Amino acid sequence: MTKVGIIGMGMMGSTHLDAYRKIKDVEVVAVADLIEERREGQSNTGGNIEGQSQGGNDFSSFRKYAEGMELIADPDIELIDICLPTPLHLVFAVAALKAGRHVLVEKPFTRNTGEGKALAEIASQSQGMLMCAMCMRFWPGWSWLKKSVDDQRFGKVLSGQFRRVSSHPGGPFYSDGEACGGAILDLHIHDTDFIHYCFGMPNAVFSRGYSHHTTHIDHVVTQYLYDDLPLIVAEGGWALQAGAPFQMQYTVNFEQATAVFDLAADAPLTLIQNGESHPVDLPEGMGYEHEIRYFLDCIAKGKKPEVVVPESAVTSVRIVEAEVESIRTGKSVQL
Ligand SMILES: NC(=O)c1ccc[n+]([C@@H]2O[C@H](COP(=O)([O-])OP(=O)(O)OC[C@H]3O[C@@H](n4cnc5c(N)ncnc54)[C@H](O)[C@@H]3O)[C@@H](O)[C@H]2O)c1
Repeated sequence: MTKVGIIGMGMMGSTHLDAYRKIKDVEVVAVADLIEERREGQSNTGGNIEGQSQGGNDFSSFRKYAEGMELIADPDIELIDICLPTPLHLVFAVAALKAGRHVLVEKPFTRNTGEGKALAEIASQSQGMLMCAMCMRFWPGWSWLKKSVDDQRFGKVLSGQFRRVSSHPGGPFYSDGEACGGAILDLHIHDTDFIHYCFGMPNAVFSRGYSHHTTHIDHVVTQYLYDDLPLIVAEGGWALQAGAPFQMQYTVNFEQATAVFDLAADAPLTLIQNGESHPVDLPEGMGYEHEIRYFLDCIAKGKKPEVVVPESAVTSVRIVEAEVESIRTGKSVQL
């Protein structure tokens, strides 16, 4: 039974708690949040995906800490789950690793590449394992896509379009561009991450984008440039009008099939081949639950996670920084 402590009981802490509650052989024993009603389980922060951060959990058995560092000092905890605002990821992950704990840290891995490299270096020398919660790598539909790309069951990929757009989530963290990095770092990084995980490191990126709610980029369109094919484009942002639905989708064109998935449309992943469309059966559950199950399994087996290694999580931040640079200069940026 792995004992877990979650630091930060906002939207993601609450989403992770929902996931732990569905998994056997794991027990959340402590939570920390500076806001009393959050650590007492009296608020429901909501999420942008149906079924996320449902709330209604019983917090009575948890040890409750206001300050996250107090939870790290609790000797009874094996896995520390960091769901704090991005600028705090580095300092809390380092403290937890130095205390000998395993660490799951929310995405983006860190606020910038320099911090990411420092954290990856410390993780490489630590006994505890560190995994960044890059949930799209585990999300049914996206993990299916990765397998289909790798084993070339439909031939090579010719082109792919990824899209993740919403209205602004609101709240102090997401309104502070310096803290969250704008939608390009906070939201669009999911697609940047998945693209280099699936198709490898692009040679360069070419991006256009704009600020809207924060001082940073809140809507971006990026072309990820490879030698020849595939042609890969992603659009991401939270600049849609309030009330606009969250959209998380892809269309990927293989040599022998086209895959279309629109998670928010309540439609199955559809595979189109020879003029016919077929739904694809996918495992139940959201990426959060699958990523947490995977990391717990790694801990149980004493085997370092391979699906997301720290260096790869740093690469995602680095590519996003290149996208920001491309928007600033109006030119493609080599990687
Ligand atoms: N994987 C995903 O799909 C996904 C989705 C949304 C957010 N995130 C990431 O998760 C992280 C958290 O986002 P969120 O939406 O939950 O933010 P949030 O603002 O809702 O929650 C953060 C919580 O941390 C608490 N906190 C801050 N400093 C603390 C400290 N020193 N000790 C204890 N508690 C402290 C705050 O009081 C707050 O309740 C961010 O890095 C964000 O980018 C990931």
